[in-house]
Amino acid sequence: MTAIPAAPELHTERLLLKPLAPEDAEQIQQTFPRWEIVRYLVASVPWPYPPDAARHYVNNVALPAAAEGRGWFWTLRRREAPAQLIGVICLLDEPDNNRGFWLAPEQQHQGLMSEACRAVNDFWFTVLDRKVLRVAKAQANDASRNLSNRSGMRLIRREKKQYVSGELDSEVWEITRDEWLQVKQADGV
Ligand SMILES: CC(C)(COP(=O)(O)OP(=O)(O)OC[C@H]1O[C@@H](n2cnc3c(N)ncnc32)[C@H](O)[C@@H]1OP(=O)(O)O)[C@@H](O)C(=O)NCCC(=O)NCCS
Repeated sequence: MTAIPAAPELHTERLLLKPLAPEDAEQIQQTFPRWEIVRYLVASVPWPYPPDAARHYVNNVALPAAAEGRGWFWTLRRREAPAQLIGVICLLDEPDNNRGFWLAPEQQHQGLMSEACRAVNDFWFTVLDRKVLRVAKAQANDASRNLSNRSGMRLIRREKKQYVSGELDSEVWEITRDEWLQVKQADGV
């Protein structure tokens, strides 16, 4: 049986995507627990965020999933400031929930997460060789919906789901491998 590839270090025009490591917990704990980041995340994110929650997530949730080949996790850093963690993006081997991300608010509205998504989508389709990528998001999460829309994804289903904010209208979006390859060719990436 072929081994499942681990998350490699990825580079984009402005970002370094560094595979998640235990020492990242401290910066995640400092950067992540803000209402504007967590309000549209799944209800399994504890809120208020306990003081050891990032360490628990990194060591007991993310890294075990990565070791078992069912999750790929990267910290986001600007290339010119690689010591500073500004967000996280992950790919997951879960039904209708293959990608998650967050970015520090002061880094938003510059296209950085779209850039990170292009890199991890490419890993999903060309290295992991998956046929479809599906994501779930709250209907009220305009920033995330806009990102999906701009990147060639399609809305395929609506449902209710539990978020940190409570029960909300939720959407499942998808892009197939063929659609991704067309987007990639059109973008010249
Ligand atoms: C979802 C989230 C990552 C989106 O961040 P973002 O910075 O808006 O995402 P993008 O990288 O797609 O950037 C788009 C914005 O950058 C602008 N932009 C500037 N240069 C750009 C470029 N080269 N390419 C694309 N967009 C660009 C766009 O116009 C848009 O601005 P606007 O929001 O003012 O309209 C962010 O809102 C977040 O972390 N939210 C909290 C966590 C969360 O909800 N995660 C998703 C759960 S489903």
